[in-house]
Amino acid sequence: MTAGVGLIYIKPLYVILMKNGLGNQKVCKTLIKHGHVYVNNIICMNTMYAVQINDIIHVDNQSINSHPFVYIMMNKPKGYICSNQNEKYPSVFNLIDRKDCHCVGRLDHDTTGLLLITNDQSLSKRLLLPQNHIEKYYEVKTLKPLNENIIQIFYQGVIIDNDYQCLSSDLTIIDDYHCIVKICEGKYHQIKKMFLSCQNKVISLKRIQFHHLTLDPYLDEGEYRLLSYKELELIS
Ligand code: URA
Repeated sequence: MTAGVGLIYIKPLYVILMKNGLGNQKVCKTLIKHGHVYVNNIICMNTMYAVQINDIIHVDNQSINSHPFVYIMMNKPKGYICSNQNEKYPSVFNLIDRKDCHCVGRLDHDTTGLLLITNDQSLSKRLLLPQNHIEKYYEVKTLKPLNENIIQIFYQGVIIDNDYQCLSSDLTIIDDYHCIVKICEGKYHQIKKMFLSCQNKVISLKRIQFHHLTLDPYLDEGEYRLLSYKELELIS
């Protein structure tokens, strides 16, 4: 693996200790500064040391998980929700045995496609921060035929929720009833509301890309896998 500076999977030593449950930031930094932490059997007193993929870490004699962060891509199936606080639909966490993880943003119960699941709060914060305008691409099937006018309307910013003007979005027509929409924000039911504002209706919705990361076409609905390092770079 070639590790670039600032990539999300490169974490400072004290963060790795925190994720292993060794205490808060202050406690973990103190452990390091006081010489309790060994990287590859050598004392490391640099709290900001960038932990590498092959590093073996000990705190005194206790072995530490040097890769406590996980990044998962799921092809979300229909009928599942992204939280586990709803009794009407099962949760995607029924499909995946990682109770320490959360979804990066939510998809509606009837939306399928690319869902990121992680235990790295800093990644989700960065990807969800509205100011970052992270782009998401959706494949849309509509009830009524698409009219070319909608391209301009989406580009100018559709009004939803009575008075909210969406940011400019790109719509590419595939055929009469199918298109790809790119949005750079994530309001509740945004795509469905955008089409309703244009007197049309979404029949099916699938997210196919999040930032620069595309859905693995070999993942069937309900399947998931860890992201590769190359894929992690695409969302860093
Ligand atoms: N827009 C929607 O309307 N639903 C989703 O699940 C995602 C985007």
